[in-house]
Amino acid sequence: MEKTALEDRVFYPSEEVVKNANITQEIYEEAKKDRLGFWKRMADELVTFFKPYEKVLDDSNPPFFRWFTGGTTNVSYNCVDRHYNSPKRNKAALCYESEIGRKVILTYRELYVEVNKFANVLKGLGVKKGDRVCLYMPMIPECAIAMLACTRIGAIHSIVFGGFSSESLADRINDATAKILITADGNFRRGTPFPLKNNADVALQSTPSIEKVVVVKNAGNEINMVEGRDLWYHDLMATADKYCPPEEMEADAPLFILYTSGSTGKPKGVQHTTAGYLTQVQATLKYVFDLKETDTFWCTADIGWITGHSYVVYGPLALGMTSFMYDGTIDYPDKDRMWDMAERWGVTVFYTAPTAIRTFMKWGTEYPKKHDLSQLRLLGTVGEPINPEAWMWYYENIGGGRCPIMDTWWQTETGGFMITPTPIIPLKPGTATIPFPGIEVDVVDENKQPTDRGYLVVKSPWPSMLMTIWGDDNRYIDQYWKRFGDMYFAGDGAKRDEMGYIWVTGRVDDVLNVSGHRLGTAEIESALVECEEVAEAAVIGKKHDVKGEAPCAFVILKDGFTGSPELVDKLKKHVGVKIGPIARPDDIIFTASLPKTRSGKIMRRLLRDIAEGRALGDVTTLADPGAMQEIAAQYAGKED
Ligand code: PRX
Repeated sequence: MEKTALEDRVFYPSEEVVKNANITQEIYEEAKKDRLGFWKRMADELVTFFKPYEKVLDDSNPPFFRWFTGGTTNVSYNCVDRHYNSPKRNKAALCYESEIGRKVILTYRELYVEVNKFANVLKGLGVKKGDRVCLYMPMIPECAIAMLACTRIGAIHSIVFGGFSSESLADRINDATAKILITADGNFRRGTPFPLKNNADVALQSTPSIEKVVVVKNAGNEINMVEGRDLWYHDLMATADKYCPPEEMEADAPLFILYTSGSTGKPKGVQHTTAGYLTQVQATLKYVFDLKETDTFWCTADIGWITGHSYVVYGPLALGMTSFMYDGTIDYPDKDRMWDMAERWGVTVFYTAPTAIRTFMKWGTEYPKKHDLSQLRLLGTVGEPINPEAWMWYYENIGGGRCPIMDTWWQTETGGFMITPTPIIPLKPGTATIPFPGIEVDVVDENKQPTDRGYLVVKSPWPSMLMTIWGDDNRYIDQYWKRFGDMYFAGDGAKRDEMGYIWVTGRVDDVLNVSGHRLGTAEIESALVECEEVAEAAVIGKKHDVKGEAPCAFVILKDGFTGSPELVDKLKKHVGVKIGPIARPDDIIFTASLPKTRSGKIMRRLLRDIAEGRALGDVTTLADPGAMQEIAAQYAGKED
């Protein structure tokens, strides 16, 4: 098995950390002996049910597993009402800072009132249990309020990341047939308002299911309000009643849909459920990030991604913790912005992505050094494998050599952490270590046999697992359960080392991981072939020292068109408009042919070899091996 010297570094937890940790070795033992018993205890301790459940896990119809069946609960009740009715009522629930320095602190009591009022607003607009509500919003408190208001009345929210284009927004609204869109006029990016509502307006031209649009006044930029359709959030809230009874929801009722990229062009609406999700997001946060009453937790992810759903909003609020959120760029007005806020808000637990860490690392240690980060006690990362160099930099320069780093492996589909250290587990830079208690994973080969290097699978159902793909049960089965039968196929490759630690090596399907964001190669390819000049396109992820992977496109032009720097620009722009700026290819290479197997499948591995400047790999299965030399020559002469 491959090894590097770095993999041998082990960081043992200090006695102090172990003594104060929420987790104990006994909890690992307990879960090993009785997995379902462990999850039962978690649900009993962490979730308030209205009606008790009858069964912990109903596995009678695999792979449609259902948790805590027979029980009823409500997520917003768990996140706000139970704290409102406790001594936590005046504790900060959400702390927020905007890029231009606007600050908001909402106590549990205040959040409760806002959520109740907005739930009544939604009801007033005709939203009923089971209806879909789309959120296209900045990282503002109103986004969390809207999420909780949806869950209060049993509506299913679908959040579309604000960086996605109008077309991506329209596709997602239409797939979910959402009734209401909640958005904002704009938000600040490097000091200038970004016109979110204008983007939404373009999408709204092709979204017949949307009846009303609720707009939060945030950036104060000029926008167009359509009479009869568009309504101001503040106007609606001014007259809303202060109490809305929480809907009694089945434990396995859908909670939200979140679209993510798969290996085909069409994003998948990952559908999450209620009680199981609420159990696992809390249990993981409690034991991995070890949250205590006195903590201020900052998860830097946007609410538009699963990390924001689970660990900015639902997990911290259900646990009654203080969650900090920032809406803005990380280097505005200067490169110490994050550390400035961490110091000012007294952040104790900080969770971010390797791509951000690599960016901070590039900027240099002088920026964190300007600030007192001594209150930090725990760090985390998520989104992609972290390179040991970035891990060490984070450990030393942000954590001051005293904060354990929780490298959490999970996915949109898993809802919560799956493979992750806890503060009592010895750490190695670059590995997510071992499964969380109650989670069973394995590394297997093509024949489902355990191996030290192969495919990552989850061997048994877990509470926060996806229910299905919205409107497409077959796709759910095909994507995750066909390949390994009774084991969930994560789409990642992994290695296992001599300590039994799991090293996730990255996607093994046609999915890219660009700055921790998932993008399907097929999505970018179909955007490219929409351009009149393009006959065919193949997209691969090329290693990038900050983004992890950068999209790189090989393009065959139609007869009569020739490649030029202008065309490169045009194609890049088109992808940005079609999907969103994160999907813009870094490189576009015009070529006369693409390497394909005899059965016509594009050999992306060979394209990656070319893009990363490696000697060409095995080309014997190519239909036209000569094509490779030609593509390599084109790449060598490409315009940067
Ligand atoms: O490839 C893995 C990578 O991100 C993928 C999931 O992406 P997404 O659904 O967008 O969710 C990201 C946030 C949970 C995984 O299939 N990934 C995520 N975390 C890690 C990781 N790869 C290695 N180590 C991690 N800690």
